[in-house]
Amino acid sequence: MNPLVLEAINRQINSELSASYAYLAMSAYCECQKFTGAARWLRLQSQEENMHAMKLFDFVLARDRSVELLAVDGPKSDFASVAEVFQRALAQEQEVSRQIDALYETAFTEKAFSTVAELQWFLTEQVEEEKTAREIVAKFRMIGDDPASLLDLDRELGARSAAKTVGQ
Ligand code: FEO
Repeated sequence: MNPLVLEAINRQINSELSASYAYLAMSAYCECQKFTGAARWLRLQSQEENMHAMKLFDFVLARDRSVELLAVDGPKSDFASVAEVFQRALAQEQEVSRQIDALYETAFTEKAFSTVAELQWFLTEQVEEEKTAREIVAKFRMIGDDPASLLDLDRELGARSAAKTVGQ
């Protein structure tokens, strides 16, 4: 594997782990606010991000190269509201989509075609992740501060099933 592509994948592993850590902090905040459904949703999302990191981790190892684990910064842990948490989640997904696009471009330019194939899954996944986060943000915007609607939305978020495994 070309060193430039390997370095870029290692950076993306770090980004996915950072996203996992950020979602975990968001989950803790929501749990403290007693939005336990949102907390569950975010905890599962944290697990999904960890699986994304592991998918790339396993890919690097399958190509007989070394994974370099970089430091993960402490995530933001305080928020103005649960609605703000999901706005930040959406912004985070949009940033990850940009990173995946850049990684794809690097792999393509460097003719690293097995990496290009591996990244197809991530391109599709990002479309789904942005869409989901955007819908939740829209729902928070629609209901505003109405307590009954917030409780309903929290219940809906809490009904999320366990994190899907990579490849599903
Ligand atoms: Fe792994 Fe939500 O991007």
